[in-house]
Amino acid sequence: MIEYIENVINKEIESLNYGKITIISSDRKDLCDFQCNDSFRLAKEYHKAPMVIGKEIVEVIKNLDIFSKVEFVNPGFINITVSDKLINEFIRKMNDNPKFNLKKLEKVETFFIDYGGYNVAKPLHIGHLRPTIIGESIKRIIAYKGHKTISDVHLGDYGLQMGQVIYGIKRDKLNLDEITIDYLNKIYPEISALCKEDEKVKEECTLITKMIQEGNEEYNKILDKIIEISVADAKKICDYLGVSFDLWKGERDSYPYLDKCEKLLKEKNLLELSEGALVVNVKKETDNKPMPPMMFKKSNGAYVYDSTDLATIYERYEKYNPDHIIYVTDFRQNLHFEQVFRASDMAGLTPYNSLEHAYNGTINGKDGKPFKTRKGDAPKLSELFELVKETFVNLKEENKNMNKEDIDKIVNAIIKFADLQNGRDKDYIFDIEKFSQVVGKTGPYILYTYLRIEKILKDNNIDNKLNDIIYNEQDRKLRMKLLELESSFNMAFKERKPNYIADYIYNVALLANNFYEANHIIGLDDVDKKNSWLYILNLTNKVLKEMLYLLEIEIPTFM
Ligand code: ARG
Repeated sequence: MIEYIENVINKEIESLNYGKITIISSDRKDLCDFQCNDSFRLAKEYHKAPMVIGKEIVEVIKNLDIFSKVEFVNPGFINITVSDKLINEFIRKMNDNPKFNLKKLEKVETFFIDYGGYNVAKPLHIGHLRPTIIGESIKRIIAYKGHKTISDVHLGDYGLQMGQVIYGIKRDKLNLDEITIDYLNKIYPEISALCKEDEKVKEECTLITKMIQEGNEEYNKILDKIIEISVADAKKICDYLGVSFDLWKGERDSYPYLDKCEKLLKEKNLLELSEGALVVNVKKETDNKPMPPMMFKKSNGAYVYDSTDLATIYERYEKYNPDHIIYVTDFRQNLHFEQVFRASDMAGLTPYNSLEHAYNGTINGKDGKPFKTRKGDAPKLSELFELVKETFVNLKEENKNMNKEDIDKIVNAIIKFADLQNGRDKDYIFDIEKFSQVVGKTGPYILYTYLRIEKILKDNNIDNKLNDIIYNEQDRKLRMKLLELESSFNMAFKERKPNYIADYIYNVALLANNFYEANHIIGLDDVDKKNSWLYILNLTNKVLKEMLYLLEIEIPTFM
């Protein structure tokens, strides 16, 4: 709407010869919908008083039928209130067109999204929650925008932990079919601790790791099995969360590309020897933070996290040719990605600005430190889901009678809405009781609103007629909020931040609640009014449902 208004105004004022002006959303919605503050800028340019210019503009546009009020406010502001007719025209377009009439893309691009990042042989824990659900949401937002997406979990399947687990399997003389997820979950911490005590074991594990990387057949067979078991376990969690990946590749898949990377880096003269290791100096003169070189190959010949990520970029561009790669991980990996992105750019692999690290903050406990179980460790995701389920079910007697699918949907809503409403780069405190309430900025509140509206719609026949009248303040506010969908969505897309959508949904729900509490639809005699209001509520629920989908939240049948 704002774009439309701006265009109309700029056409009308062409004859004034001031060039184009900009319209912004009002920060005082009680006074007007939009405003223009350009009189001050034009005043300087044209050596006139802002008052003169402002009044001139108001004079030209005040009688347009798309506005109900255009006001000049001292010393140079223009306040604009749009007409009911215009609002309803936009509401109709939003209702009648797919995806709420979002502007079509001029060019469809391919986005490669790397999130989840689970480590093989370790159970998924709270640290994987944000990269998983933020990544999934970003993927859905990008796809909704109309772009092509490819998602990859990029398993951690190549480091020392692999050598450690295989060391354990050899020590315990297990056959391939004796390896289970419980064994893996137990053996990794055990050998990892042993490595800290016993230098010999550590050397052995390092050697196994290197041999895996060099293609040792026996070890790679064991690794295949470990990956198979770990992936099956991770997929259970992903199913519960409704998260899916196109590709379940990992660090190991980059192996064939390490040589190609090395060749490329050599050709560009970028590899430097440093204490026996091969590194890439990625420092720039303009850096005001320390920027250590990127490690490519350790002095013992082993490749590391930096190198596999660089090689993975090579692989992705060769196989999928994406326009963008977005990585969703914890902010602690900022430096790692900065180094890899720079190296990729310097090597001519892909330009720096096609790579993005959409990093996330930490989930904290009430003490402000990373969330822990009572025992003091990071909870596994399966434990966390149980904890939330328990809290929700014990909240009210009625909750105990809900069916299992509905409870799971609500558990998902509690967790995801709590998480995604925070800027992804910010930390937040995981307060399950608060997140589970049906009041406040919570998932259950949104779901409850949806179900209440659904009930009204079911109890009344909608015949999808909207007339040109807006009946009162709550009605108008709700309609105007609905129209903000495109700008909220575009912010979420542009910044890769689902919280813009969570905020929008919450505000829609809030205004929808105000609206139907103040305006009783049941028993209304005025048929036109009733139809219009049902139309608005119907659109409200369409909006809630589709935007909830972008936050991976499904709607239960009953609450
Ligand atoms: N496995 C890594 C970790 O646990 C995350 C992987 C993220 N993706 C990537 N391409 N580096 O820290």
